[in-house]
Amino acid sequence: MEYGVTAGLDIGTTKVCVVISQKDVYGDILVLGVGVAPSYGLRKGVIVNIDSTTESIAKAVEAAEIMAGVDVDELYTGITGGHIKGQNSRGVIAVSSRNREVTYREVDRVIEAAQAINYPTDKEIIHVIPWEFIVDEQDGVKDPVGMSGVRLEVDAHIVTGGATALQNITKSVNRAGFNVEDFVLSSLASAEAVLSEDEKEVGVILIDIGGGTTDTILFVNGSIQYSSVFPVGGKYVTKDISVGLKIPDNIAEKVKLEHGFCSKEYMKSEDDIEIPGVGGRGSKVVPQMTLCNIIEPRVEEILDLVYRDLVRKNALELASGGIVLTGGTASLLGIEEIAERIFNLPVRMALPDNVIGLRDKIASPIYSTALGLSIYGLREDSTGVFESQQNKRGIFRRMKSSLSEFAKEFFA
Ligand SMILES: Nc1ncnc2c1ncn2[C@@H]1O[C@H](COP(=O)(O)OP(=O)(O)OP(=O)(O)O)[C@@H](O)[C@H]1O
Ligand SMILES: [Mg+2]
Repeated sequence: MEYGVTAGLDIGTTKVCVVISQKDVYGDILVLGVGVAPSYGLRKGVIVNIDSTTESIAKAVEAAEIMAGVDVDELYTGITGGHIKGQNSRGVIAVSSRNREVTYREVDRVIEAAQAINYPTDKEIIHVIPWEFIVDEQDGVKDPVGMSGVRLEVDAHIVTGGATALQNITKSVNRAGFNVEDFVLSSLASAEAVLSEDEKEVGVILIDIGGGTTDTILFVNGSIQYSSVFPVGGKYVTKDISVGLKIPDNIAEKVKLEHGFCSKEYMKSEDDIEIPGVGGRGSKVVPQMTLCNIIEPRVEEILDLVYRDLVRKNALELASGGIVLTGGTASLLGIEEIAERIFNLPVRMALPDNVIGLRDKIASPIYSTALGLSIYGLREDSTGVFESQQNKRGIFRRMKSSLSEFAKEFFA
């Protein structure tokens, strides 16, 4: 693969998407190629059919490669699903180096200590992201290397995921003819695409509402202090339209995309909505408010789920910068108003636009994750921003080696 070019693979519940990008000499993100294929092999963000997912991945990568004119072999791959768990953990060690000076070795050790959390054996660690170090009594330290002290502590956000879900991603990617360069939490990737550095400092919650999952992440002081995946999304809204209006799912989806809105301020006129008939039956007419009355409570439920979890984990109070919505379901007219009401914070809808190149090809909130994965890759290729270079290598090396064990088991 060409130097300085990365590819992000977002295996979503409704579509598989690949974005190939590069950093230009001015530091701007240049989008070179985008490939999308419908996804049929997932349920709520988790692969349930490997063959069909493999096929979608192959199609999406090929389309992106043709557009970009580059060949891809390594993919920064997103991970989501109800099996994902984000939790905070503290690690503590004694500084044992000569002069009592903190070196990379101590940083590695303390991060290792933070990983000593209790998690079931069928789970794997995906990220260990330190948010602050404490040297003796001094807290709020971003980079402790070179400081003197006797005791080093770290507060880190740890993300774990189901081992079999990870294996199935690796398997699908490998069968399509590619390798997983790294697994990246989908919400972390979306954040790369749509959040500003200022927002991440002040405190912001990103909510990516897709088809089958709602991925949430909180940044404060530039790092992650909360993440969560809720296994519900736009498909749930569609299902309810289908039940409520007694129409098939595919028609319900069309009606939602064409006419859907979830706050009555968005009622276009008094016009009724005409719903095409199926199986020789005539079309029927439904008042716009009926549709809104189905969609609004479902969207409220999804956002309320997120709200309650944030409150329970004392995370909401850290988000003075407000809420950012992305993902396909964030396109619903009126969703910002609902979110403002629930969170009592400023809300904005975001799509990837801070890029150059094939900018118009990804100007939709459904592309946040794929673009973000590719940007994450560009960052990781240069310097580690989430973990100091040394630790990151250590952690990822460990993670990758355990994954290749799975690969061996499967492909033996
Ligand atoms: N304009 C729109 N109005 C309402 N809903 C929309 C609109 N555009 C897309 N959606 C909904 O967004 C969802 C797809 O979003 P997205 O592409 O972000 O999901 P995904 O990444 O495939 O799934 P997930 O992230 O949940 O695994 C679908 O449920 C679709 O109905
Ligand atoms: Mg998604």
